[in-house]
Amino acid sequence: MANRSIPHGGTLVNRINEAYRINYSYRGVELTNLELSDLELLANGAYSPLEGFMGKADYESVVHSMRLANGLPWSLPITLAVDEQLAVELHVGEMIYLQHQGNIYGVMEVTEKFAVDKMEEARNVYRTTDINHPGVKKLLERPDTYIAGPVTLIKRPGKSHSQSFYLDPQETRQIFAGLGWETVVGFQTRNPVHRAHEYIQKSALEIVDGLFLNPLVGETKADDIPSNIRMKSYQVLLENYYPKERVFLAVFPAAMRYAGPREAIFHALVRKNYGCTHFIVGRDHAGVGNYYGTYDAQKIFSHFSEDELGIKPLFFEHSFYCKKCENMASAKTCPHDAEHHVILSGTKVREMLKNGELPPKEFSRPEVIAILIQGMQETIE
Ligand code: ADX
Repeated sequence: MANRSIPHGGTLVNRINEAYRINYSYRGVELTNLELSDLELLANGAYSPLEGFMGKADYESVVHSMRLANGLPWSLPITLAVDEQLAVELHVGEMIYLQHQGNIYGVMEVTEKFAVDKMEEARNVYRTTDINHPGVKKLLERPDTYIAGPVTLIKRPGKSHSQSFYLDPQETRQIFAGLGWETVVGFQTRNPVHRAHEYIQKSALEIVDGLFLNPLVGETKADDIPSNIRMKSYQVLLENYYPKERVFLAVFPAAMRYAGPREAIFHALVRKNYGCTHFIVGRDHAGVGNYYGTYDAQKIFSHFSEDELGIKPLFFEHSFYCKKCENMASAKTCPHDAEHHVILSGTKVREMLKNGELPPKEFSRPEVIAILIQGMQETIE
């Protein structure tokens, strides 16, 4: 059966050339961790139709109207910032190397350089200019000039997990087709999968052919659980509680922006490129602190028609375990008072584990808790 998903903009971008020989004396531009992960995702087609870091027209259109200059939906700027000195030296038309900590990962032709108003970017993209917001903080710490141009990835960034979990969109598309999945629901996460996540994933799986568990493993904030521990927790969970032939696990090597609603749109479009036809958006998707309303990341989808997004969002209410129902549920499906509900957050779980308390199995599977405890002990040692 044919997978029903079409890449954003119609064609999957591929700008990888690992046979490229470094023998020119181009100037090198140092990338941050976030920019390095963006380079790989631009080149492997995850960010199709983008072929490089954004120019001014796309950037301004995305910041102000969540669309590329050609009108296609796109919610987050994908940009490369350079410091003032370098910005003056670089000229349009110049070829540069994109490097990180002593390695050259890419080549780019500089097609534009432009100054930006980062407060304006923060206000629009993050809905706040508060420096305590981790995404805003990172944005405001960047220099004020962006350079743009098409990229070529010439060396893959190092991997922190088994190579088999790193797949390009072209590969996941082939895998889904091979499994005969016509419809695939994508699940983004930066946390261990707790019972609420499991509940919404399985509810979604009731109506589609396959589940693509696609945890983000790029840069996250310091108090999020490290991805090596999370990866173990996903595997033990899949092993024990999920049907093997209906779930596929691969990593999403992007950095977290914590841009809430705008990042939900971005997450959905990118998972479309990986071959998903549906995408789960639950409570406070990609949120942090109290910057976004519980369902803002769902409401934002009404700015776009389903046709132009090309992926169907599946919205879920805040889920919990209800002791009266003896089941996972949400306000939509449970008639009982809040006193019967077990609502634990990832933060609460970390606090409990630190204090030597075991989170109840209604919140997290014991196998997952065991991995988290082991991970915390290894971190302390
Ligand atoms: S996120 O930053 O990647 O969104 P997280 O890993 O916590 O954080 O969430 C993954 C997905 O599960 C998101 O779509 C989020 O909205 C959803 N989600 C998390 N917890 C709940 C919950 N208790 N009820 C409903 N949806 C949830």
